[in-house]
Amino acid sequence: MDLGHWNIRTSQDVEFEVVETTDLLDPDNSLLRQIPGGGEAHSARLAVLDEVVEDLFGSRVRDYFAATDTPMNYMTMAAGDEHKTIENVLRIDSRLNEIGTERAGTPPIAMGGGVLQDVVGMATALYRRGIPYVRVPTTLLGQIDGSVSAKNGVNFEGYRNRLGTFHPPPLTLIDRAFIATLPERQVRSGMGEVLKMALVKDPQLFRLLEEFGPVLVQERCQDTGPLTREREPGREVMHRAITGMAQELQKNLWEKDLRRIVDYGHTFSPAVEMRSLPALFHGEAVAMGCLFCAALAVNRGLLAERDFDRIAGCIRGLGLHSTHEMFFDAGLLESAFADTMRHRGGAQHLALLTGIGSTVFVEDLTDHEVEEAAQMMRKQ
Ligand SMILES: NC(=O)c1ccc[n+]([C@@H]2O[C@H](COP(=O)([O-])OP(=O)(O)OC[C@H]3O[C@@H](n4cnc5c(N)ncnc54)[C@H](O)[C@@H]3O)[C@@H](O)[C@H]2O)c1
Ligand SMILES: [Zn+2]
Repeated sequence: MDLGHWNIRTSQDVEFEVVETTDLLDPDNSLLRQIPGGGEAHSARLAVLDEVVEDLFGSRVRDYFAATDTPMNYMTMAAGDEHKTIENVLRIDSRLNEIGTERAGTPPIAMGGGVLQDVVGMATALYRRGIPYVRVPTTLLGQIDGSVSAKNGVNFEGYRNRLGTFHPPPLTLIDRAFIATLPERQVRSGMGEVLKMALVKDPQLFRLLEEFGPVLVQERCQDTGPLTREREPGREVMHRAITGMAQELQKNLWEKDLRRIVDYGHTFSPAVEMRSLPALFHGEAVAMGCLFCAALAVNRGLLAERDFDRIAGCIRGLGLHSTHEMFFDAGLLESAFADTMRHRGGAQHLALLTGIGSTVFVEDLTDHEVEEAAQMMRKQ
């Protein structure tokens, strides 16, 4: 018999902004100085910069804040998934503590790719049980995918994102110019995630990738060439990817519904990505994961072979590899699937394509089908 029973029920509105801008580091552009929610910082803030971003833009960032006498502290962090660790989270929290970052008035700024964003996101989620921060993604992947996400996390004991929280920053600033300095391979990797979004819900985005893939990568989405200046496919591709992601997240921010089409291509790829670290980048593994799931769909009669070939062609057009020997290893893929299912409440919830831009969830995939699709990946 209950002697006492308290039922606490509450809800929280979540609202966060993603703003696209140009010339973010021009002192005339006040966005980067803005304190989300208004007001002025009454003591120094921390800016955490990716080491490469520090080299490329560090002096401009310092000039930007110096121009308005805004007091700042700076620290850097190495990127790459091998640095997405709890140790780096604690290193940032130590620095926040050292400079006395407040609960609300002095939000840190995170400038870098998805790795830095995930680490700073988690550090700010833990510090004082959560403080706001400003997110400035500087990679294509960070701008089109991480930019609207509410999640952060670190890799732990060999598993991707095993520790993490939901803690969206109130303000994210996107300046496409940052992509101009990104190594081509990183741009291709970001395109892997764009491809995923195209496949699950946006056939027009897929056609843009098919038509402009190579030039988008070469121009790093800046639309600077004769082919692209007028039509701006770089801009459209980024907008469509961000919009698609925002729509999907908004209806399921806390992931109460574990059937998420944005997880397409992320079912078998995490194990491959972690096993091969640092050989494969996230988007590279995702693109292969997309094709692997397309193979599963073809073998089930859900997807036309012609569409499978178009997807494989599009992946190659983006300069990405369509396969990797780990995708031939049915045993590895089966254990990857088992681990992903643990993340999906024990269910398969596997999104498969029924065409380019449409999906269905299946719950009855067999090991035999995984083996057959692995055979198809061998021929790629
Ligand atoms: N939380 C989320 O919802 C979410 C979403 C997408 C991706 N992610 C995570 O993001 C990570 C991948 O992100 P990433 O691809 O941005 O990797 P990354 O952060 O490692 O950056 C890639 C490389 O680009 C360099 N770089 C960053 N900005 C640059 C610039 N403007 N010019 C030149 N070089 C620059 C970095 O130093 C690094 O070498 C993965 O760990 C993934 O899990 C998280
Ligand atoms: Zn991803």
